[in-house]
Amino acid sequence: MKKFLALTLALGMTASLAACGGGGTTSTPAPTDAGAAVSESGGEGGSASGGQKIGISMPTQSLERWNRDGSYLDQQFQAAGYETIVTYSDNDTNRQVNDIQNMIAEDVDLLVVAAIDGEALNTVMNEAGEAGIPIIAYDRLIMNDNVSYYVSFDNYSVGTLQGQYIVDALDLENQAGPFNIELTAGDPADNNAPYFFNGAMDVLQKYIDDGKLVVVSGQTDFDTVATAAWDSQTAMERAQNILASYYADGTQVDAWLCSNDSTALGVTQAIQSDYAGSNSVIITGQDGDEANLKNIVDGVQSMTVYKAVANEAVVTLDLAQAILNGDTIDDSLISNSGWDFECSYDTESYATSEGHNCPSFLLVPDVVTADNMVEKLVDTGYYTQDADGYLQAAG
Ligand code: GAL
Repeated sequence: MKKFLALTLALGMTASLAACGGGGTTSTPAPTDAGAAVSESGGEGGSASGGQKIGISMPTQSLERWNRDGSYLDQQFQAAGYETIVTYSDNDTNRQVNDIQNMIAEDVDLLVVAAIDGEALNTVMNEAGEAGIPIIAYDRLIMNDNVSYYVSFDNYSVGTLQGQYIVDALDLENQAGPFNIELTAGDPADNNAPYFFNGAMDVLQKYIDDGKLVVVSGQTDFDTVATAAWDSQTAMERAQNILASYYADGTQVDAWLCSNDSTALGVTQAIQSDYAGSNSVIITGQDGDEANLKNIVDGVQSMTVYKAVANEAVVTLDLAQAILNGDTIDDSLISNSGWDFECSYDTESYATSEGHNCPSFLLVPDVVTADNMVEKLVDTGYYTQDADGYLQAAG
């Protein structure tokens, strides 16, 4: 029986007490954006990890998924006997730099960083490199060669799944159309966002070229359709403008590509408040946030691309352990892991600078709709379902 004691340290940090038994996971309340939580783990007889300390830097608590990531990572590293420092930087890059600098000052042994802005962490990544601290870029790549490894999902295929969903839902292979579509992409500062958008457009472009799909607003380039900070309000306002400018005359919008759930939430709100038509618009998403799963049950969002972030945390933990053990890291991490989910080792797709590829472990995303939601999310234990049929992420 191990016990994990979470201690509050300086910097206005949140105290938390977590215990777990027999190799289970700790349950540590997620810290708030208002302060960093520093948890120290200890236990009878110590652990294989010898009290090594892991700095976990998440971008924000304003989006549901990062709370789940931060909490899974914290729980899993603590359960493996590591001390953890977990911060959320409120989508403020300067603050993330500061949070990571504090971790370096706390002598962390390894950093796990989900960057707010993949281009803006250069100085602090160099500082970590100079201090000899290995860095795992978590979910979003950081454009700095000190990054040792990248753990994420196959970001391009997130986009192709969204594009293919629209093709299938409109039966574009068999229908002449034309169908009307609008596009909403993610944050240009996030290295993932163009991957999602390009993946979707690589599927949709031929139907646009054939005239089966028409982007009525004419807004098709990434910079025009991007959404700073993945903000729902920003996505909503742009959608309202498009509806007012191009659809107020009764023109029907058939589909709206949204790169993730927070942007889908904004677009769905705009459709509900500002759309003159009565058809149900096909709206894509990504993440399986609870509000969006509710919208899928209610029929106002069509799908979400689900990424099992609990598994992303498992890969990150196993990779971190291998790095700290000095193991050779290649695809044997996957074959030796015993993971019950798919993951590939990729040394080609992601570069931190020209000519400098970052070895990557990429998990496989999955489409969730109203029809398969229970099978994919509830039966797998990721969510529970309430009496109204709505889903809540399992703690
Ligand atoms: C991406 C991430 C997505 C989504 C988005 C907004 O980088 O891969 O899952 O959460 O950020 O936070």
